[in-house]
Amino acid sequence: MILLVGGEKGGSGKSCLAQNTAVYLAKECNASVMLVDCDPQRTSADWAQARGNNPDLTKINCVQMYGKIRSDLLSLQKAYDIIIIDCGGQDSLALRASLSVANYALLPLRPKRRDLKTVAHMDELLATCQMINPELKANFVITQCPSLPNQGKRIIEAKEVCKTWGIPVLDSVTYHRNVYDDSEESGLSVIETEGESKAAEEIRGLVNELMGVGCTEELAERFEKQRQQLGRGTYAISGSQEKSAYAYA
Ligand SMILES: Nc1ncnc2c1ncn2[C@@H]1O[C@H](COP(=O)(O)OP(=O)(O)O)[C@@H](O)[C@H]1O
Ligand SMILES: [Mg+2]
Repeated sequence: MILLVGGEKGGSGKSCLAQNTAVYLAKECNASVMLVDCDPQRTSADWAQARGNNPDLTKINCVQMYGKIRSDLLSLQKAYDIIIIDCGGQDSLALRASLSVANYALLPLRPKRRDLKTVAHMDELLATCQMINPELKANFVITQCPSLPNQGKRIIEAKEVCKTWGIPVLDSVTYHRNVYDDSEESGLSVIETEGESKAAEEIRGLVNELMGVGCTEELAERFEKQRQQLGRGTYAISGSQEKSAYAYA
């Protein structure tokens, strides 16, 4: 299974969502996860490295890949339950290659005009990629929403903009919470910083909604079934081996 977290706008929360999703799936859904960082800024690769220094944390393997990565992604898919791609903030070859093979695309947008202006181009890009990958399920998600009740209108309006382009937008949103920023500094996810927090529930809820399941157990079962169908055990090859095989910065 391949999940792309992408979009054109820097700061919309792509790396943050990719990292938190990786931890949720690895830790709570028992999935073997490979995080692929396609951004030369290395946000997710640095996060995974910081995380790797803490032996108490569930290990998240991460490789960097750039350019024509379609066949590399298809090879990785054979060894892991899910590949999560953090695609950086521009329309790149890696973004298009990822969209051509992904099962899911998660496209974060803040409820801000500059983010919403990118929807038109994303719509065009998705339409092109869906011609060769009709199975792709793409969803926008509104992130970093203001929590003041009188700002709720902005969230509704942002969802309306996406809907006018005919692109599904998740009901789930993330609110602006400092725990997201605080967690990533030391390679953590919000699930590990505060497992019962609202932020942790946001992550679980949005990933479950994206993948069309009602709860964490259902998602774990889906990964288990996928492993059985492919005749694969729970564990994939180790991170360091992957790194030497695939990383080319
Ligand atoms: N829901 C949120 N609440 C608060 N801060 C957030 C949230 N989502 C992301 N951030 C912060 O916003 C900044 C940009 O996020 P990042 O994931 O790096 O964006 P991108 O990868 O799209 O450029 C980071 O400092 C991150 O911690
Ligand atoms: Mg990023």
